[in-house]
Amino acid sequence: MRRIIIDTDPGKDDAVAILLALAAPEELELVSVTTVAGNVPLSRTTANALALLELGGRPGVPVFPGCARPMIRPPVTAEHVHGETGLQGLVLPDAQAPAQRQHAVDHLIEVLLREPAGSITLCLLGPATNFAMALVKAPEIAPRIGEVVWMAGARSEGGNVSPAAEYNVYADPEAAAVLLDSGVLLTMLPLDLTHQVLMTRDRLLALRKVGTAAARAVAVMFGDADGNPQREREKDGIPLHDPCVIAHLLDPELFKGRRINVAVETASPISLGMSVADWFHVTGRPQNALWLNEADADRFFNLLFTRLARLP
Ligand code: BDR
Ligand code: CA
Repeated sequence: MRRIIIDTDPGKDDAVAILLALAAPEELELVSVTTVAGNVPLSRTTANALALLELGGRPGVPVFPGCARPMIRPPVTAEHVHGETGLQGLVLPDAQAPAQRQHAVDHLIEVLLREPAGSITLCLLGPATNFAMALVKAPEIAPRIGEVVWMAGARSEGGNVSPAAEYNVYADPEAAAVLLDSGVLLTMLPLDLTHQVLMTRDRLLALRKVGTAAARAVAVMFGDADGNPQREREKDGIPLHDPCVIAHLLDPELFKGRRINVAVETASPISLGMSVADWFHVTGRPQNALWLNEADADRFFNLLFTRLARLP
């Protein structure tokens, strides 16, 4: 059983990731959810996380609100992708359970210092602000974390928020730099991978047959009333970025990649937030991340739909 903390900015693909984690109680113990400003402001990401835990039948999982803005820069939100509420089109009742009073950064430090070294995996689904701030405040947590698995970065097709940068890196590049330089065991799932994991019309129609409230919620966020998936740029469907993090933990054979060095651009206005992935080991810099870039998409959707069928 892997013990995980999900750090997230829901976000409709974050929502699917949370539901997928809730649907895997035999493999994953969800210790807590920490929220961060990202796709929408912190008050929304926190309210969304609480509401999603209730939808998934697990209102007892504690939610710790974290940083309301990036380390240095002003917030960059993404309502054009996720809708004003962050859960585009999905209306959930306000959660009964309140958020925790402790700040997410302090919660991360407390858990990592309290639990056995190596026993916690951090699933990072948004800008890396909370964990980077925890590393700044308490650097002694770095050797105590088991693994960080982060949906972030882009190499082969360029970025989705600028020609150079993927959103989670771009939104807080200094936090990304702290994480990449921290020496923690890090797995990255970049756009190179998640752009192969597309919610197409056929998959949306199959999802609509699953029949649970959780499956219906995902279908609402990713398709229109006629069953057409929204298209993202030239893609034939809409990428399910963040659930890939959870799917990777459940089935390590789903995705393949290579250990490389990844650095982040924090100065240039043109390429701010670019994840500079040294795929051919040309820099001689040490490997600091497993960069996953090949996906078995059919196997992913089979896993996702099977698991959504187990939720309320
Ligand atoms: C990432 O950016 C966010 O908009 C998504 O939730 C995902 O975490 C994809 O670039
Ligand atoms: Ca996200």
